[in-house]
Amino acid sequence: MLILGIETSCDETAAAIVSDERRILSNVVLSQVDQHRPYGGVVPEIAARSHLTHIDRLVAQALADAGIDFNDLDGIAATGGPGLIGGVMVGMMTAKAIALVHNLPLIAVNHLEGHALTARLTDKVDFPYLLLLVSGGHCQLLAIADTADYRCYGGTVDDAIGEAFDKTATLLDLGYPGGPALEAAALKGDPTRFDLPRPMSGRPGCNFSFSGLKTAVRHIVARLEDDQFDAIVAADIAACFQTAVGDVLTDRCSNAITRFRDEFPEGRSLVLAGGVAANQYLRERLDQAVAKVGLAFHAPPIELCTDNAAMIAWAGIERLQRGLVDDLNFAVRPRWPLDANFTALAR
Ligand code: KG4
Ligand code: ZN
Repeated sequence: MLILGIETSCDETAAAIVSDERRILSNVVLSQVDQHRPYGGVVPEIAARSHLTHIDRLVAQALADAGIDFNDLDGIAATGGPGLIGGVMVGMMTAKAIALVHNLPLIAVNHLEGHALTARLTDKVDFPYLLLLVSGGHCQLLAIADTADYRCYGGTVDDAIGEAFDKTATLLDLGYPGGPALEAAALKGDPTRFDLPRPMSGRPGCNFSFSGLKTAVRHIVARLEDDQFDAIVAADIAACFQTAVGDVLTDRCSNAITRFRDEFPEGRSLVLAGGVAANQYLRERLDQAVAKVGLAFHAPPIELCTDNAAMIAWAGIERLQRGLVDDLNFAVRPRWPLDANFTALAR
């Protein structure tokens, strides 16, 4: 089975061909980062226009790289939300047109589901597993019981984790995009120099909060005189921030692991996924924490942690194998929780 995946929900235009035998035949990603850099964040209108300009060419390139044409496909999967809706519409309309013309099943994939299932494509992880999903728009702990059966244990009550990295990087003048820049700066910093809070740590449950951490960084920066703020201080604050995030994630995961083991005694793995899972320090922290409690740790290769279409194609394969297809009037969704029953959060 060969599926074309399309991803356009944020600032990457992406197309990929994946087989049900877990082969990625092609994986094309066009980053818009240079277009958004002058604004310090993703501008939805610019993103949507850029997706529109490039998507046809990228789909053609994905087919050419894989050495196939539309007739070899068994289905089209595209991100149907959540995300910047103008961009999602571009990808979904492209997918619908291809599905209609070539008489192929259409699979509308939840972007978060793409991240959630990537470790099954790359590491063949079996259901059920515990997932820590860390991206630009989300931070959630979920039990992944089966395809389309996701149970949320907790999420952020304020900022998403990637957002916290990006905003903190801006406060520290580290450049755009912030997450990778902050990680690079932290490598040279002293993680003990400043005292930062560990929001939610020690509390019951699996929720997260990051806005207090960001505000604490703002106060430290504000207290420094202009001539005291330099690359060394910025690196030290970055290292302290990253360490605090690592502490918070391991604390929250430990509560989630207890609950997961209770509900899914047969579960064996914790998976880290989403753009922030590209962070090497956080991967190592979680790997160590999970090893201590006897679970296996999995994180997809870095290029499959950040947004891509191979993950969308794979989620499409998993859905198609279960007969979960959509019709051509599927309406894109700016918000689309993986677990509709989880409502404990402010957002
Ligand atoms: O999953 P993703 O590519 O897009 C969304 O679906 O949101 O995640 C993007 C987020 C951004 O906030 C980015 O700064 C963050 O992932 N990120 C990182 C790293 N690489 C990307 N955060 C921390 N360390 C990194 N190395
Ligand atoms: Zn993403």
